[in-house]
Amino acid sequence: MLQSMKIEGGHRLEGTIEISGAKNLALPAIASSLLTDQQVILHNVPKLTDVASMLGLLGYLGCDVSRSGDTVTLCTKDVINVDAPYDYVRKMRASILCLSPLVARCGRAEISLPGGCAIGLRSVDLHIRTLILMGANVSIEDGLIKAYAPNGLIGCDIDFPKVTVTGTENALMAGVFAKGVTRLINVAKEPEVQEFAKLLNLMGAKISGIGTSVLEIEGVEQLHGTEFSIIPDRIEAGTYAIASAITHGSIFLKNCVYDHLQSFFTALQQTGTTIQNRKDGVLITNDLDTIYPYCIYTNPYPAFPTDLQAQYMVLMSVCHGNATITENLFENRFMHAQELTRMGARIYIDGKNARITGVPSLKGAPVMATDLRASVALVLAGLAAEGTTIVNRLYHIDRGYENIDDKLRSCGAVLERVGQ
Ligand code: UD1
Repeated sequence: MLQSMKIEGGHRLEGTIEISGAKNLALPAIASSLLTDQQVILHNVPKLTDVASMLGLLGYLGCDVSRSGDTVTLCTKDVINVDAPYDYVRKMRASILCLSPLVARCGRAEISLPGGCAIGLRSVDLHIRTLILMGANVSIEDGLIKAYAPNGLIGCDIDFPKVTVTGTENALMAGVFAKGVTRLINVAKEPEVQEFAKLLNLMGAKISGIGTSVLEIEGVEQLHGTEFSIIPDRIEAGTYAIASAITHGSIFLKNCVYDHLQSFFTALQQTGTTIQNRKDGVLITNDLDTIYPYCIYTNPYPAFPTDLQAQYMVLMSVCHGNATITENLFENRFMHAQELTRMGARIYIDGKNARITGVPSLKGAPVMATDLRASVALVLAGLAAEGTTIVNRLYHIDRGYENIDDKLRSCGAVLERVGQ
């Protein structure tokens, strides 16, 4: 828990990094196994603490969980508990993904309310609203979301006032057994959401409109087991793409799917980085002496992803000129900026805009990670900085980056974990 990462900056990175399975698909995929009493086999599941937390929660709920390499086998013959205690939810907000499958299968669920979160309020009102619109009785008592639908959920039209990723996934799971047709309007279209809908269809669900803003679910009586492979993690790939660009290096992102990161790659190209889409991955090279400024704003897919905003800010902090980054999704997702200024970056925050004036180079310093993406952003800053950087509170990083030390070291990074 008290580990830090010590990084000696200034080394050009070159090599190949194999991209792991997507955390943001693995988590809902694991939760969806609650919808059947048969075996769900998931391949390419990354070894992350968030995944371990979700598997722990599933075990508590009554699922038989086993893991062999990157394959996870799940089977919930009987649901034993219908509650997600605070200890699980505190560690991982995505525990909310158990809400709908429990209500859909057991007619009730009690999920501890996720509290505030470092990157913003991140309320779950839209998850709850879906269940209420579908006929469930939902109350919030003693910090718990208590949902009851003893006679099952009822299909209806649900128009999302805001695009929500896990909210869409929960709504899909609510709809699979609902009576009649459920229509979800203004849904998230992230590749992980699309793949998730495909997984449910493989289990016997009837979901149409995948990839569009409207998903239609025809309720079925039951789902069955299946075998499914998790797509590569586009956020992990984007993070290493910036590692390559900022160290003026050349990294081949094995398995990276170019199309999943189009907006991000378009921006990266404008900074002077060369991006080559190859058959089995994407090559990121930066041979220039200069990083050009390029302004971006985050929004739901297919726009520039909020989960790459912190990392992109590090790149802009050493650009030649000025750039503005606008964060449209989370109201408090600039906490890395303060730490970057301790490394010499010039960043001025004005509401949801960060105005950055590039400096010739960052300087190594002790810094503190506040959340998952902020922690990896500070590692990127350390790789590019002059001297030694120590990133404290490193534990956030293992929630979302499998084997990051070895992956970076294999490309020439000089870093080590210190502390315990
Ligand atoms: C998911 C991702 C996370 C990513 C985020 C946005 C997972 C496990 N996590 O998080 O990595 O940063 O999408 O791409 O997939 N909102 C509400 N009410 C709700 C739900 C959301 O107001 O009930 C708001 C949020 O505060 C936020 C916006 O909607 O401003 C988008 O959040 P959402 O897409 O729900 O994020 P998550 O699904 O939690």
